[in-house]
This record gives sequence, structure tokens and C-alpha cells, in this order.
Amino acid sequence: MAENGSLNGTGGQPHRTAPAQNGKAYGFVDHTFDVVVVGAGGAGLRATLGCAQAGLKTACVTKVFPTRSHTVAAQGGVAASLGNMGKDDWRWHMYDTVKGSDWLGDQDAIEYLVRNAPQAVYELEHFGVPFSRTEDGKIYQRPFGGMTTEFGEGPPAQRTCAAADRTGHAILHTLYGQSLRHATEFFIEYFAIDLIMDEEGVCRGVVALCLDDGSIHRFRAKKTILATGGYGRAYFSATSAHTCTGDGGGMVLRAGLPLQDMEFVQFHPTGIYGAGCLITEGARGEGGYLTNSEGERFMERYAPSAKDLASRDVVSRSMTMEIREGRGVGKTKDHIFLHLDHLDPAVLHERLPGISESARIFAGVDVTKEPIPVLPTVHYNMGGIPTNFHGEVLTKKDGDPDAVVPGLMAVGEAGCVSVHGANRLGSNSLIDLVVFGRAAALRCAETVKAGEDQPELPSGAGDNALGRLDRFRYADGATPTAELRDRMQRTMQSNCAVFRTGEVLEEGHHKIHEVWKASDDIRVTDRSLIWNTDLIESLEYDNLIAQAVVTMDSARNRTESRGAHAREDFPDRDDANWMKHTLAFCDTVDKTITLEDRPVHSYTLSNQIDYIKPKKRVY
Ligand code: FUM
Repeated sequence: MAENGSLNGTGGQPHRTAPAQNGKAYGFVDHTFDVVVVGAGGAGLRATLGCAQAGLKTACVTKVFPTRSHTVAAQGGVAASLGNMGKDDWRWHMYDTVKGSDWLGDQDAIEYLVRNAPQAVYELEHFGVPFSRTEDGKIYQRPFGGMTTEFGEGPPAQRTCAAADRTGHAILHTLYGQSLRHATEFFIEYFAIDLIMDEEGVCRGVVALCLDDGSIHRFRAKKTILATGGYGRAYFSATSAHTCTGDGGGMVLRAGLPLQDMEFVQFHPTGIYGAGCLITEGARGEGGYLTNSEGERFMERYAPSAKDLASRDVVSRSMTMEIREGRGVGKTKDHIFLHLDHLDPAVLHERLPGISESARIFAGVDVTKEPIPVLPTVHYNMGGIPTNFHGEVLTKKDGDPDAVVPGLMAVGEAGCVSVHGANRLGSNSLIDLVVFGRAAALRCAETVKAGEDQPELPSGAGDNALGRLDRFRYADGATPTAELRDRMQRTMQSNCAVFRTGEVLEEGHHKIHEVWKASDDIRVTDRSLIWNTDLIESLEYDNLIAQAVVTMDSARNRTESRGAHAREDFPDRDDANWMKHTLAFCDTVDKTITLEDRPVHSYTLSNQIDYIKPKKRVY
């Protein structure tokens, strides 16, 4: 047990005993790596693989077995302008992404994403991802919302490369297999507790708890890459796995660093009513459509050109308006139907087998005969840890809004690079994972010399993590974690939803701050360190609540509508005052939030495309 201070783990060096906490001393198992990656989803594995390929001694620390990471649930595909099924161009992909972001995306980062996308997909193909194929053997590509040709003037683009409707599953398994081919050390079922920051503000590594035996590990590294995913579980109904608790975002806030654009929370139009499981946008890409209680294909009214393939924020708002105006379906008229029953069963079998099964299991529906009951469901966080396109974490320091935090990087949904701005286009997430996972690895290869000596950790390094662990382990308040989590999730669901008003956000602000304060009264009943789910859920809740508060307060602050942030009291986009990123700092001890901002990058990376100027966003 860790308490006796005598553990050594695989590859670990002799421990050092940390100061006594609550009368007990914890021992560290110390490790030194060139790079430590936290998280083993698509971005984490791509970064891990790239670092290992570059000869860097790389650790990947993950709280779940890699192939259980949430990327496994990604269905519809990965966007890249391969042009396999019609003409395409990276510039069109860039235009669509900028427009989809409602002009909050950083255009240098977007150019980096879309230009590197085709190569990243071919690389996945060569790694072994079993993409679906066209008749002539090319990678199959389907239409997805907001993806067009000719800078929005042409027909929909077929840009989303798919492995049936299990693309994330295919990518994750392939990347894990590839990572194992290289000398990567995996620390599986290790929960990251906190970053190790030194007095100069340099990240020196991370502390993690081994769930299996209760040992506590201190990873010293030149670079720490957070690839911990989103925090969808701050909401009551989400397509995100229960493990999506924003652990990296929580660590960053506790380190005194900001999170960016947290008010932008994506609702996927088609979560299964009640269960919340995802029905891929690929279903509409293959010809599916939505109807209201009158059997009307209502998207034709809201988005005359793109219809059911308008971008997600637009479709989610349209569905919500239909329900509000009494045209929802079902006994309580509180959801919408998604029809696939007109499609050839052979197509459903070949292209959408996964969601056909989900609809049967979770909605009791045979998709060849009946519509699927669906509802907009929390799906993705556009906001996260601010980074540049190399994956380096940014903060605002001495007037510099793009100051790099040495030693710390973030990729994937945990990060905010920001290519998605105020609204992400479907299938731009998987490409973000692999492009920026690779970019982070390239940056590490450029800036870290393999095996180079690292300075000793400062004295007391990691004690913050031990203090946090100990505080929750022995928490003897009166309120169980599950009760606090339920209050947080319900508050976010009702007060920070698809549509927002000043009044509802004000109420939400008070309610969520009350939950945050009430968290001091948390009760953890299991005191052990081995597979203590009560303790881990409490640490996860602590990460979630800080991000829930930041989300609510950022939303309350932004008095305009942009992308997924739809204020009924401020229905228009206000570029004069709000074309800027929100930066939220959080004092987790005093429980206060400070909001600042950062300019949007209104320049591109090369002269092969000009800055895409803002205009009205219609589909
Ligand atoms: O609908 C989907 O398949 C989800 C894709 C995405 O979020 O990118």
C-alpha cells in the first residue's frame, strides 16, 4: 500500500516519502520520461506514437484501458478534402470550418488543420484503419453538416472519411496497435491528480494514482501533454462517456491557468431520446431526415439549402423551436423523429450498422421500419485549454495573450486550439485529434533532446496532488458526491442549454456557485486507495464542477449570439464587441472566477489563402 511508503512500480525509481497528510505518509514512485502524455484517446495516442517514433522516451498515462477511451464512440467519420467522391479543396474545407466556427476560430490554426488533414487520413490508412471503400477501392466519404464546395456556393461536399459508423473505434484500435509497436510505456488505469508546476511556472510533470494497487506515481518530464478529453458529464444528458470529466481542464485551472471559450457547448441534434446515445450525423449524410409531429421536414424552413445537413447548432436550435412551438413528437411532444426507414436496408446494413443496433437496443426501434426518437444532446466542448497549433498551452502574461506555458501541451477535446471556435462541424473532431496529436509530437521532437538530463524536481513537488487526494479521501462532510453531481448536472442542463437568456443564466450562475460552495461538505465513505470508485468519482466531480462554473459564468458574460451560444436576449452576433476568445481563470480555493479575453487570430498561416472575412452565417 502507498501508506507504508515502500512501493516501487514498473520502471520506477526509489520513492521519496511525502510529508504526512492526515497522519499518514504517502510514498511516490518516481519516473523520468522525455514526454508524458495524459490520456489515450485519438489525440493522446497519436501524440504518444509520434513522440515514440521520434525516439523520445514516452509515457502514456490513462485512467481507462486505451481502447475504452471516448474516441471509441465516434461514429460518422473524419473530415479531409481527399476528393474521392467529387471535387474538393482544402480551401473549401477551411471556408466551411471558419463559417462553422462563426468566425471565432483562429484562422492560422484552421489552415494548419485542413491542409494537414488529407495526409493525416492517408497516414491512418497506412497504419491500418479499415476505412469503408468506394467501388474503385478509394476511401469512402459521406456528406456531413456544414461541409460544402466552392466556398459555400456549390453542392454539399462528400468530405467525411468513414469506417461504416464506427470510425472512432477503428482509429483508436489502430493507433493503440501502432503505439505498441514503438517503445511506449503505458500506465493503464492511472488517474492523474494534478500537474507539477515549478516556481517559474514551468510544468515539470504530473502526479497520478494507480487505481489497481493504490501507489502514487510522480512523472517528471520535459513535456506534459494533456489529452484528457472533454467535460460533457457536467451535463445531465450527454453523448459523452461517463469518463468525460475534463480532468486536464481541472488540473489547468488549479494550476492558475485559464480555460478558453467554455461557453460554447455543442448539442448534437440526434441523441437518442431518453438514453442520450449518439445517432451519427452520418445518418443524415446517408439521406436520413427529421420530422415534427405534423410529419413535416421542418429543416427546409430553417435552412433552405443545407436542410438536415445544416451545421449542428442550427439543427439543434431548429429542433428545440419545433418542440417549444408544440410540434414535438411523442406523448409529451418533447422530441423529434429521425427517419431512416426510407433508405435501402442494404445501405443501412453496410454504412450504418452501429446506429441500427443502438436504435434497437436503446429506443426499441427497427430503423428499417420506424423513425428514431431523438433530441439535441450535449456532445462536445468547443472550449478548453488554450493552445497554439503546435499544441503548446497558452496563457495571458505580462500583456502577451499568447504566452506559452513552458513544458505544458494540450491536444484533442481537452484543448482549444481554436479550430472550432463557437461551433464545431461534425467530423472535424477526429481530424483535430490526429492532426494536432501529430503536431504536438513534432513539436516535442523539435524541442526535446531524447534522454537529456532534467533538473531535479523542486522540493515538495507533487505535494499539491497529495493534499488534494488526501482531502477527498478523508472528506467527512454530509453530502455524497452523487448528490452534488446530480445538482450540478441538472443546473447545467436547464440553465446553460441550447437557448440562453440573461435571466436564466443569472439564475444558473447563482445555482452553480451554490453547488460549488456546497462541495466543501462532500462526503466520501470509502477510505481505501485501491479501486476506490467513490474517491475517483469525487476527484472527477471536483474537475467537473470547476468547469461547470466557468462555463456558466462565461456564458453569462457573453452578451451576443454566436455559434452554439444562442442568447435570446442578444440574438445577433456582435463582431464589434465580441469577436474575441473568453479566458476564464478560476481560484479553486476562494471559489471565484475571473474573466478576461484574448484576440481571435485574424490571419492565415500562408499566402495561399486570405483571411476569410466575417459575414452572415446562413445555410
Ligand atoms: O455524428 C457523428 O458521427 C459525430 C461526429 C462528430 O462529432 O464529429
